[in-house]
Amino acid sequence: MHSLAGVSDEARDREQAAPLPPRPLALRAGVPDPADVLASYRAVGRDSRTTILGLLASDGVRFGFPGARVLDFGCGSGKVMRHFLPEAEVCELWGCDIDAPSIEWINAELRPPLQAFTNGPAPPLDQPAGSFDLVWSVSVFTHLTDHWAGWLAELHRVLRPDGLALISFLGGAMYEAWTDQAWEPDRIGMTVLDHGQGWELGGPTVFHSPWWLREHWGRAFDIVQMREGSAPREHGLVLLRRRSGVDVTPALLERIDAAREPREVEALRHQVRLLHAESSRLRAQRDALALAEAHRLPRRVAGRIGQMRRGH
Ligand SMILES: C[S@@+](CC[C@H](N)C(=O)[O-])C[C@H]1O[C@@H](n2cnc3c(N)ncnc32)[C@H](O)[C@@H]1O
Repeated sequence: MHSLAGVSDEARDREQAAPLPPRPLALRAGVPDPADVLASYRAVGRDSRTTILGLLASDGVRFGFPGARVLDFGCGSGKVMRHFLPEAEVCELWGCDIDAPSIEWINAELRPPLQAFTNGPAPPLDQPAGSFDLVWSVSVFTHLTDHWAGWLAELHRVLRPDGLALISFLGGAMYEAWTDQAWEPDRIGMTVLDHGQGWELGGPTVFHSPWWLREHWGRAFDIVQMREGSAPREHGLVLLRRRSGVDVTPALLERIDAAREPREVEALRHQVRLLHAESSRLRAQRDALALAEAHRLPRRVAGRIGQMRRGH
């Protein structure tokens, strides 16, 4: 892609002049340094701009041409979009998110040139088929559990033929920092931790192995490029080109073909082991609470008694 040489200074100046969201909205979108929320919010968004432009450029893709329609799926309060204000003057840059306060804030403070709409927790989007040239989604499929396949099929639907999707995922760099366990991609597949956790606590966390993304996402999209995160906690990124002539449904994306890909079975076994560990931990917490309440004990003491009863 042509990286819009000369626009980056303008993008920086426009971003600096743009209003910043209230702290809770910035925090909700995820910031690596909670000690300095807004500085961290701005720095991460700036890095995302560089990464998006770099990845598109490496595929020779033009961005920001007049009339192009671009969607930031799961845009939060616009942490990434706010770094594309000059481009949004010439193309249509939309954001969408399930969080109405974030969307209201974007439309109140950054529209025009940005525009945003709220979507429900399950598909569809209120957008015509084939209407976007590019969709990016940063740190969203890293949290989608039950509806991931429906949403990926929906992004396929709203993209024009040959349209591009750029999606971040969590691989080894984040897994090791997050779990303290070695990254063994053959048994990760799609692994979910903290299923059902609310957004105020960061939502669930989803890890993907590159082989699994190729196996499942590759049914709807050609994988143009895949970059795994290398620095600790760095997201991976995959650039996808919409495949035509495929009837993309959630069932197609989810189907497990263990004969073709034997790693599927070990990945499911590993997910079950992780779920057992999670449920044991939660049960221990629940028992400690019940003990503390029954005997009016401090929770710390009840927790220790619970551990001793279980022989730890
Ligand atoms: C970690 S935040 C990232 C926000 C933004 N992409 C960024 O980089 O700042 C994840 C976002 O995904 C949004 N989200 C979760 N499920 C969604 C869904 N089904 N559709 C749209 N947005 C969703 C959340 O509300 C949240 O704003």
